[in-house]
Amino acid sequence: MLRRLHHEQPESFAFTPANQAWAEAQMTKYPEGRQASAIIPLLWRAQEQEGWLTRPAIEYVANMLGMAYIRALEVATFYFMFQLQPTGSVAHVQICGTTSCMICGAEDLIGVCKEKIADQPFVLSADGKFTWEEVECLGACANAPMAQIGKDYYEDLTAEKLVEILDRLAAGDVPVPGPQNGRFASEPLSGLTSLKEFDSGHKQYNASAQLAVDLGETVKRIDGTEVPLVTPWLTGKGGATAVAEKPVKAAAPKPAAAPAAAAPAAAPAEGTRPAGLDAARDSGADDLKQIKGVGPALEKLLNSLGFYHFDQVASWTADEVAWVDENLTGFKGRVSRDGWVDQAKTLAAGGETEFSNRVKKGDVY
Ligand code: FES
Repeated sequence: MLRRLHHEQPESFAFTPANQAWAEAQMTKYPEGRQASAIIPLLWRAQEQEGWLTRPAIEYVANMLGMAYIRALEVATFYFMFQLQPTGSVAHVQICGTTSCMICGAEDLIGVCKEKIADQPFVLSADGKFTWEEVECLGACANAPMAQIGKDYYEDLTAEKLVEILDRLAAGDVPVPGPQNGRFASEPLSGLTSLKEFDSGHKQYNASAQLAVDLGETVKRIDGTEVPLVTPWLTGKGGATAVAEKPVKAAAPKPAAAPAAAAPAAAPAEGTRPAGLDAARDSGADDLKQIKGVGPALEKLLNSLGFYHFDQVASWTADEVAWVDENLTGFKGRVSRDGWVDQAKTLAAGGETEFSNRVKKGDVY
């Protein structure tokens, strides 16, 4: 299937302050220089915030992670979990159309979607509440036919059951997910034939359905009210307290060698703007991407602030680092976190770092 960006896009995207703090904390889960590893959780958060994944959101996340847009676009267009067009305000309905479900009545379910939502997939229903699509096997074949609605599976469906579920969702209700034909899980409909001793004392619903009921989730988007992200590996500014409400046990100390920790922590929050240049010197701008943590987007941002050369970065005082850290929109804290000043000192003196070597060899994208 062709997965293209939607023809109509919003002007811009920005994380809400809570989501921004969450996203910045996610990025710290990965080793320095590997922040691109956070691409999927950040794109997912953007989708949860907006309901679908817009081009400005993809670009925003790429900027945060110092990635070329095309790399982020590759991820967004590869994974079907990312919706590249507006979805229903209540739910996006995914009907499994693979073998088991097809044999057991998936076409009837698709018929219901065509009738009640829209004739074509990915088209908003008249009331804007639903969209639908046919998807490949969702791994619940023993409960065919089934659909994923929001975040949960509705299994052992019939056309009538799906009509009822959509009507209830439209009315603001959240039907209990799981098997819809009286089965507990995927045992024989006629009852257990073995392992009968495990049949007693279980809860009303199977674990997945029970959790959905307990959380009241199913079609609810992440909105910041879920369990906060706990970041015990962070300390101080932008760290655990910004994201986690749970008490954080003894925070893991940063390795002594980490260049990020010491200097900026003592610097005033606002800092002082370092002197910049109107343009690169006649010798041409340095390749700032040789500094670990600086990608194409960050290099552009640095240039726009008047920084083109290693020796400029190398000369920043702690106070100036604090200012730059604060003013790298979308990349706050990168200078201190990745130890730019120390790297730049080496590069300005004509030396090389392990990372700059890799950049020169073309091993870093
Ligand atoms: Fe539908 Fe596997 S075939 S879930």
